[in-house]
Amino acid sequence: MNIELTEEHLAVRDAARDFAQNVLKPGVIERDEQQRFPAEEIKQLGELGFLGMMVDPKYGGGGMDTISYVLAMEEISKVDASCSVVMSVNNSLYCWGIEKYGTEEQKQKYLVPCASGQKIGAFCLSEPEAGSDATSQRTTAIDKGDHYLLNGTKNWITNGGSASYYIVIAQTDVEKGHRGINAFIIEKGMEGFVVGAKENKMGIRASDTHTLLFNDVKVPKENRIGEDGFGFKFAMMILSGGRIGIASQALGIASGAMELAIAYSKERQAFGKPINQHQAIAFKLADMATEVEASRLLCLQAAWLKDQKKNFDKESAMAKFYASKTAMKVATEAVQVHGGYGFVKEYHVERLMRDAKITQIYEGTSEIQQIVISRAILK
Ligand code: CAA
Repeated sequence: MNIELTEEHLAVRDAARDFAQNVLKPGVIERDEQQRFPAEEIKQLGELGFLGMMVDPKYGGGGMDTISYVLAMEEISKVDASCSVVMSVNNSLYCWGIEKYGTEEQKQKYLVPCASGQKIGAFCLSEPEAGSDATSQRTTAIDKGDHYLLNGTKNWITNGGSASYYIVIAQTDVEKGHRGINAFIIEKGMEGFVVGAKENKMGIRASDTHTLLFNDVKVPKENRIGEDGFGFKFAMMILSGGRIGIASQALGIASGAMELAIAYSKERQAFGKPINQHQAIAFKLADMATEVEASRLLCLQAAWLKDQKKNFDKESAMAKFYASKTAMKVATEAVQVHGGYGFVKEYHVERLMRDAKITQIYEGTSEIQQIVISRAILK
């Protein structure tokens, strides 16, 4: 790995930091409490070019590299992980997939609006009985000649209500197992497509996570992504890239919690001195700093490999596995450093602790990352 941050990288990081601290921070507690989707804030993120960061400018994107994406995700996630998950899903799971594997028509119709921040995209794989076991898709898309007929239910879909376009993974031929799975682009408003209940979540409460129902939805043939039977590999490749985004989100939650703990430890006095002068606290801060730095390096390594067009499946799984564990640990320790204040909302760390948990669950649980890593090293 050979990474030296350029002036452009630092400018992206600074722009994301300013936005997070000045625009996102003031309303973040209220949005979390009210489970209010940050519509205005997401619109502004789009105007900054952060919703299609890596997409070619000819398709409305920012033309930036994955390292810039990691830097921006960290800064946004330090303050508001509900916003950063919208950003991550739109960038990695939606735009990247269509840019890499879509037809020119699909790119014009479905990529340009989402990469330029006018609309939001979603990625729909998980089902009531197919989360980790992604090949067990129950949603079906039956070939009817000039269209597919889509039926089924998708669960826990980030941007479920706010998206305009959805990549939906479905079984087209059950006999063929994972080779009988395809990916389709569905539009909100298609007959038979219903946005179902919104989840009341522990963390990332301002993001909108929904069940989606498909009842005899007619999907035009031209909305299939890639060759017949490509859907499972497509989903795996997209998730592998998506893990860089979620790893960076976890990194941001961890570094945000650590920064709050450091600041508080300088102000708070106990036994006649700032609490960071007690080894009990200083050792915690040293652990946090080391683990945050290790997470950052893993995220940057995966991003660098992706930018170099090298295989990054193992490295993105490692980044997500380690950074999400770090987010949970550092946020919990940051609450501990704050004592009683850590348990109340005004100090922000309790929200970061709640938000951290989902990073160990979505876009593949920690155990799924361990499977990906162990298969790669045992190959
Ligand atoms: N790139 C390309 N192809 C891949 C691949 C990758 N990264 N990973 C697997 N494949 C291919 C394999 O080569 C194989 O193809 P062949 O048979 O032609 O060789 C095929 O896919 C099947 O692979 P496996 O046999 O390894 O599949 P498996 O059933 O053992 O599953 C798994 C592997 C890693 C457990 C996978 O099912 C997985 O990643 N599951 C987790 C899914 C997940 O992340 N869900 C989260 C939902 S999305 C979400 O959370 C979005 C949101 O809203 C935030």
